[in-house]
Amino acid sequence: MDKYILILHIIRLILMIENRGKGSYKAINIKVEPPGPRAKEIIERDEKYLVRTTKSLPVVGYRGKGVFVEDVDGNVFLDFSSGISVTNVGHVNERIRDAVEKQLDRLWHFAGTDYYYREQVDAAQALTEITPGKFAKKVFFSNSGTEANEAAIKIAKAHAGKQQFIGFIGGFHGRSQGSLSFTASKSLYKKGFFPTMPGVEHAPFPDPYRNPFGIDGYENPDELVEAVMGYIEDYMFKMYVPPENVAAFMVEPIQGEGGYIVPPKSFHKKLMKLAADNDILVIMDEVQSGFGRTGKFFASEHFGVEPEIISLAKAIASGIPMGATVIRDRLNFAASGMHSNTFGGNLVASAACVETIRVMKEDKLVENSARVGSYFRKRLEELKEKHDAIGDVRGLGLMLAIDFVTDRRKKTPAVKLRDQIEMSLFKKGLLTLSTGVSSIRLIPPLIVTEEQIDMGIEVIDAAIGESL
Ligand SMILES: Cc1ncc(COP(=O)(O)O)c(C=O)c1O
Repeated sequence: MDKYILILHIIRLILMIENRGKGSYKAINIKVEPPGPRAKEIIERDEKYLVRTTKSLPVVGYRGKGVFVEDVDGNVFLDFSSGISVTNVGHVNERIRDAVEKQLDRLWHFAGTDYYYREQVDAAQALTEITPGKFAKKVFFSNSGTEANEAAIKIAKAHAGKQQFIGFIGGFHGRSQGSLSFTASKSLYKKGFFPTMPGVEHAPFPDPYRNPFGIDGYENPDELVEAVMGYIEDYMFKMYVPPENVAAFMVEPIQGEGGYIVPPKSFHKKLMKLAADNDILVIMDEVQSGFGRTGKFFASEHFGVEPEIISLAKAIASGIPMGATVIRDRLNFAASGMHSNTFGGNLVASAACVETIRVMKEDKLVENSARVGSYFRKRLEELKEKHDAIGDVRGLGLMLAIDFVTDRRKKTPAVKLRDQIEMSLFKKGLLTLSTGVSSIRLIPPLIVTEEQIDMGIEVIDAAIGESL
């Protein structure tokens, strides 16, 4: 081996050992009030050089391990946000790191849509094996959730030969012009961007807690589902959306950005039946709810449905950018070149995806999500008993949220209080993200333990107590 390469390898090994030693955390440790001086300097430069995006908390990550993240000032945070449900296997998982490293030593990029390589095929096969439905499937790879949905839209249009679609109020599907036309969780996302893709109408989503029908969906779930189905059939289909023109519904099994809204159990089966009866496809957007988050590999499984088009991204390669559209074989594009891209199925992302699935199965992370998720929920229900400001605790597995209200009976959203609590949690060393109108989502990596949940609960309890 060349002398210089050997020296480089040794330096890399030393750095690796150094980082590994420092990356084991057991508890929250706030040394300086965040954001500290180093964080402030980076945030200032971020504002100077980066285009404005969402940015909800002034936390500047430096390194992480498992469920903890250290910021640039040496503060250690308990991470109940998982990079928006991406690092489901935990931060810096050694096995995925090794798989990526091995791939980096071999080949990085090789035009996966024009040439061939094993890694992409392995990732596609693994995805077809774990997604719901025993039927033959195919995968289109991209780099993000919005691209996975763009591909789904084109697949539906190409197969059905129709151009009309139906999305759901409260849904979030991305921000590129096609996906954006379905997104309906905040009008801000669309403000100034019309016209988006034409031909998308929206139906109400059966939100058991707050819905336009005034139905208590926890008490009367079937009545709520009937109200939504009736709205689609009696108003949309009869008055302004001819079903013969509709290519597909696009729907999340559980709404993510809309507020972690779990619809009644019968909803998705009824929707799939309505779609099948009218020769309409269903695009199931599992970008946020997929990959073990809800205590099953895919949230669709809770509802007993096997969608023919599933959009995936976020956790599928543990943070290496990757999107995937998994479709039933029969929906394949009719001709080569109808859809394609440069980076989809990139070798490094494919290697990370294959290893992520292996780790999730071998370490039983889906089972852990269900078990620790139900413990977490029980603890959150206890907090609800204690604090009147919590109006609702909802979610499945480790996809949980608490909704803050100023009046429990009227369910009036307490937006300011929610924002205050999110900031207070951060200052105390717990990372969370807001969602919906007045909720905070709680989505730790799926490796989280009950002890770590207790740690988080203690912080949430204190933050709510102090904010009232
Ligand atoms: C359900 C759902 N679909 C699509 C997207 C868009 O994914 P991306 O931000 O990777 O484009 C998101 C992102 O939060 C999402 O939650």
